[in-house]
Amino acid sequence: MLDIQKIRSDFPILSQKVNGKPLIYFDNGATSQKPQIVIDAEVKYYQEINANIHRGVHTLSQLATDAYEISRGKVQEHINAKFAHEVLFTSGTTHGINLVTNGFASILKTGDEVIVSSLEHHSNIVPWQMLCEKTGATLKVIPINENGELIIEAFDALLSERTKVVTVNHISNALGIINPIKYIIDKAHAVGAAVLIDGAQAVPHLKPDVQDLDCDFYAFSGHKMCGPTGTGILYGKEAWLNKLPPYQGGGEMIKEVTFEKTTYADLPHKFEAGTPNIAGGIVLGTAIDYLNNVGFDNIQQYENELLAHATKRLLEIEGLKIYGTGKNKASVISFNIDGIHPYDIGSIIDKLGIAVRTGHHCAQPIMNFFCIPGTIRASFSFYNTIEEIDQMVEAVKKAQTMLS
Ligand code: ALA
Repeated sequence: MLDIQKIRSDFPILSQKVNGKPLIYFDNGATSQKPQIVIDAEVKYYQEINANIHRGVHTLSQLATDAYEISRGKVQEHINAKFAHEVLFTSGTTHGINLVTNGFASILKTGDEVIVSSLEHHSNIVPWQMLCEKTGATLKVIPINENGELIIEAFDALLSERTKVVTVNHISNALGIINPIKYIIDKAHAVGAAVLIDGAQAVPHLKPDVQDLDCDFYAFSGHKMCGPTGTGILYGKEAWLNKLPPYQGGGEMIKEVTFEKTTYADLPHKFEAGTPNIAGGIVLGTAIDYLNNVGFDNIQQYENELLAHATKRLLEIEGLKIYGTGKNKASVISFNIDGIHPYDIGSIIDKLGIAVRTGHHCAQPIMNFFCIPGTIRASFSFYNTIEEIDQMVEAVKKAQTMLS
């Protein structure tokens, strides 16, 4: 059992007022709030050990390097990667995906196929489209049904020896649907395709085990899991990371540079050119420690209660429709009310201190499928409460009355 009031006291922003009302923060899908321990760790880094990493013999540089590498080790352990050098620090999920698509530009050719799903965030569509344009490969799309679930038989039918890469998100940011990624990974491997999982929306809710999943790449962001913005991780299997060319050239990713030829550093440095977000990388480790202390089993159980309560309460509202009604869901609810633009509801409830996201959620193909301009999305975290959900329901009702 979680002590929610105690957990809430870890997050200073939650005791703020917004528009004169206590903040109810239901935009966790966009970014999570940060506990004081994470904020303190960021300050402590700059106050006590700020120095560049992997470069100096001086004490601070070594302290910073050690802290950065300890954090890499924490991530390795957290996601159960086989080697620490399979864990690359990035600026976020988008960076990780682009690193991979850039690498595949030297592998794919005309006639090859890349499979993405209809549930993807734009950041897991556009880089693959750009890759296909560059290489002549063809983009294939797994369709969804009315519940917002992937049509698995259609995925099976798309697979062939031409399939070189399959990519899906672990959890849909727009609908909260949890995808059957283990099945997808196994099937893709059976035809020899590599698989990238976009874990951006999964990592705040669950602990991925990359060896058990057997995915080739798993990308996620730190800021959605109580860590700083501008941080992220790309996990890649050693063999793939050795095969892919570097993404960016620069300092720290080289073994030797001459004007005739440059040789590249070993993993993970081959993919970590330039001075990274050192503080962010270190503090991501603090965020992971914090979440593990709360416990992912506790988080999932409590968030499922929030999801069930919110679903039941919202459906009391006449004319309200939830998008993403599949069974396997994380604590995200996307909805609309008949005849009212999502933006109008979002703006009114903001005045009541309630933060939700409205719009297409960077997932326009999903909105096109449902023939809607967007939705109102409430995404819950383990620091939210049943009472906050009840207040949101009352606020939505009030907005509906004002706008009808
Ligand atoms: N990808 C983030 C979201 O879904 C920004 O809101």
